[in-house]
Amino acid sequence: MNASDSTGPDRKKELEDFDATKAGVKGLLDAGATKIPKIFVRPTDEIAEDDLNPTLSDAQIPLINLSQIQNAESRKEIVDRIHSASGEWGFFQLINHGIASSLMESMLNGVQRFNEGDPEVKKQYYSRDRTKKIIFHSNFDLYVATSASWRDTLTISLQVSDDLDPSELPSACREAAVEYIKQVRELVNLLLELLSEALGLKSQHLTEMECGNGCSFVCHYYPECPEPELTLGAKKHRDPSFFTILLQDQIGGLQVLHQDHWVSVNPIPGSLVVNVGGYLQMISNNRLKSVEHRVLANRTGPRVSAACFVTGRMGLSEKVYGPIEELVSEESLPLHGEFRASEYVSLYQEKKLSDKSGLDQELKIQETGGPDL
Ligand code: OGA
Ligand code: NI
Repeated sequence: MNASDSTGPDRKKELEDFDATKAGVKGLLDAGATKIPKIFVRPTDEIAEDDLNPTLSDAQIPLINLSQIQNAESRKEIVDRIHSASGEWGFFQLINHGIASSLMESMLNGVQRFNEGDPEVKKQYYSRDRTKKIIFHSNFDLYVATSASWRDTLTISLQVSDDLDPSELPSACREAAVEYIKQVRELVNLLLELLSEALGLKSQHLTEMECGNGCSFVCHYYPECPEPELTLGAKKHRDPSFFTILLQDQIGGLQVLHQDHWVSVNPIPGSLVVNVGGYLQMISNNRLKSVEHRVLANRTGPRVSAACFVTGRMGLSEKVYGPIEELVSEESLPLHGEFRASEYVSLYQEKKLSDKSGLDQELKIQETGGPDL
C-alpha cells in the first residue's frame, strides 16, 4: 500500500462513509463483507515494525490470588507480588477478587447482546461526543489513526459524576452493568490501597490524591474478522489511566509487550486483568510501568471485553499531578514534570492510539527531558 492510499481524499471519504453508517464493524459483516475494507488494512511498515517483536508462547503475566487478603501476613505477600508484577510487567491477572463469575459473564453477555441487537438502537447511542455519559462508536481515533481497528466500543463514562441513572444505559446490558460497575468500584478502592502499599506509602495515599474519583467503563466488541492478518483488534498502546481493570471473555487475543516480545494474556475463567496506566507510571516516578499492549483480530470471534479505566477526574480537573514527593530523592530524581490533568487528556485524545502514549507528550510539554518511554 502506498502513502496516498492511507492518507488521500479517498480514504477520508471512506472513513466518513463508514462512520455515517453508525453501525460499526459489526455493520460491515451484517452487510455481507467477506474482505476487510481498505481503511482497516495496516500499512506494511507498521506490520514490519511490530513483527520485530516476536511472539513468546511460553511466558505468562503474573497471577495474583486475593483470597487471603484479610490476613495481614498474606496481604504483605500480595502487596510484594503486585509491586514486582507492576514494575516488571505492568500487567497481572487477579483471581479471587470478590466479583462473582456469574456477574462477569452477565456483563459480557449484556455487551454482546447490545452489539448484536437492533442496529437502530445502536445508532441512537452512536456519537463521538465525549461529554456524553454513554456513547457507542467504532474507533475513537478513526480519523487520525494510520488504519482503523476491527472493533466497536460502548463507553459508560463516570468522569463527570459517579451517579448513573440506569435508564440511560442500553436495556441489553442495563441490569448487569449497574451491578458490575458497583462491584468493580469496590475492587478499585482495594487496588488503590494495595498499590499505595506497594509504593511504600500509607494505604490511603492514592485515594487521597483522588485517583479513584472518576472512571470509564469501555466495553469492546471485536467481531470475527475475515482477514485477521491484515488488521488488529486494537493497535499497540498504553492506557491513559492510573490503572485499568479488564474483563475479557475466553477467546483470547490480548498481547503485552514484555522484554521486546509479545506475550499473550491467556484468558483464565473468573479472572480480571489489571494493568498500570501512564498516570501511575508518572506519579510513581517510573517504579510502576505502563506497558504497551494490543489485541489481535481473529477469525472465530466475536470477542467481548470490558475495561474499567481508573482515571480520577482527569478530563476535567485542574489538579496538577507529578511524581509523588515521597518517591523522589537524590537517588531517585523526578523523571517527569508536573502536569495539569486536563492537559494530559486533551493531548491523548488528539493523538493516535498507535503513538507511544500521552506520557511522551507530557514529557515534551514540560521540557524536562526524561526517559524515552
Ligand atoms: C483498552 C484495551 C484490551 C481488550 O481498552 O485499552 O487495551 O482486551 N483493551 O479489550
Ligand atoms: Ni489498553
